[in-house]
Amino acid sequence: MNGPARRRAEAGPFAQARHLLRCGLRRVRDPTIGTTGAAAVIKYIGSKRALVPWILSTVAEVGRVAPVRRVGDLFSGSARVAHAFKAAGFEVVANDLMTYGHVLATALVAADARHYSEDALRGLLADLNRLTGRDGWFSALYAEEARFFHPKNARRIQAVRDAIPDVCGSDDQLRAILLTSLMLAADRVDSTTGVQMAYLKRWAPRALGDLNLSVPPLLAGPGWSLQGEAQAAAEAVEVDLVYLDPPYNQHSYLGNYHLWETLVLWDCPPTYGVARKRLDCRTRKSAFNHKGSAPQALRSLVAALRADHVVVSFSNEGYLTAADIEDCLGDGRFVVRLQREHPRYIGSRIGIYSPGGVKVGSVSHTRNVEYLFVATRRRPVYDALSHAAPAAGYHPRPVPGV
Ligand SMILES: C[S@@+](CC[C@H](N)C(=O)[O-])C[C@H]1O[C@@H](n2cnc3c(N)ncnc32)[C@H](O)[C@@H]1O
Repeated sequence: MNGPARRRAEAGPFAQARHLLRCGLRRVRDPTIGTTGAAAVIKYIGSKRALVPWILSTVAEVGRVAPVRRVGDLFSGSARVAHAFKAAGFEVVANDLMTYGHVLATALVAADARHYSEDALRGLLADLNRLTGRDGWFSALYAEEARFFHPKNARRIQAVRDAIPDVCGSDDQLRAILLTSLMLAADRVDSTTGVQMAYLKRWAPRALGDLNLSVPPLLAGPGWSLQGEAQAAAEAVEVDLVYLDPPYNQHSYLGNYHLWETLVLWDCPPTYGVARKRLDCRTRKSAFNHKGSAPQALRSLVAALRADHVVVSFSNEGYLTAADIEDCLGDGRFVVRLQREHPRYIGSRIGIYSPGGVKVGSVSHTRNVEYLFVATRRRPVYDALSHAAPAAGYHPRPVPGV
């Protein structure tokens, strides 16, 4: 064994695989990786899963009239929309306030699939899948004190997460790919209704399955990920079109997805309450979660945007009315509102349960109205969207712009 190989062997069980990924297999050109599989992402309240085709076709309509090459998604969340933009051929910058959102965007948008051989990734993940579960602070918190995961899976999450720094070394994108794989795997065996405010009294059937890490749907091509306030990203990024999907109400994403934040930060935070939420859920706040500050936050964000076109998702159940949003967008831009009815989030359809699993609320309504606002500096784009929307089967409400 030569010197470098011996040092790798001594550096731990994953050093050899990491070396292969970087040197031997890393620059393999395989443009098909990740492009054929469906984009599996975490369950995420407010995710635009069902609306992606509508968003893409609206952006394509803008692109038919004015060039759109670079797209910014400043509230990227699960990265589902940003991933779809990249898959559609746009150069994408994705930003979110949450660390887990940044990790997802780094793997699903920023990482270039051509730099990470699927075979090598599969090998690394197979090694991680073979690790024996172990007890630790995460399994104690989330399988014993709170019951978000079955103990057999919580112990394996503990072992895999402990090993990831060793596997990825200083490669931040590889780290994000492995953490994304772990989040996706953990999400498939959690015992919740889709948010982490509470866990189910009895194990969800999927929680009894086995944690299994698989290769996330990476895409070939360049991309960028940022973590921070949307306002800061707006000031830093110059693109052709910005997509905005801010929170609609008071429910904080950190509170709803505290486990993912803890899983990626791996900081063993102080916790509180039955759900063992991170203590910083009490202090890390977004202006978009407060009725008083949301309108001004959106107005200031829109004013800072360095893009000809803005597409905003919102619903009729949020803090802001359609008129509020049009008012924020209409300063210097032509605005078109598209809308459609949509089934509400699954949690709203099955009822409201206490942390103990007792039904404490009933379903008020099962459908809402989803809006897409397009604000553009280009009059021909406004004209095209105003005319095209009825043919697409939606209900546009052209709003006089400037
Ligand atoms: C409605 S969700 C976005 C969902 C996303 N489009 C998807 O399909 O998964 C809103 C996102 O905004 C993020 N967020 C909240 N306040 C923010 C802020 N001030 N700046 C940037 N992101 C923020 C949340 O973490 C959350 O991921």
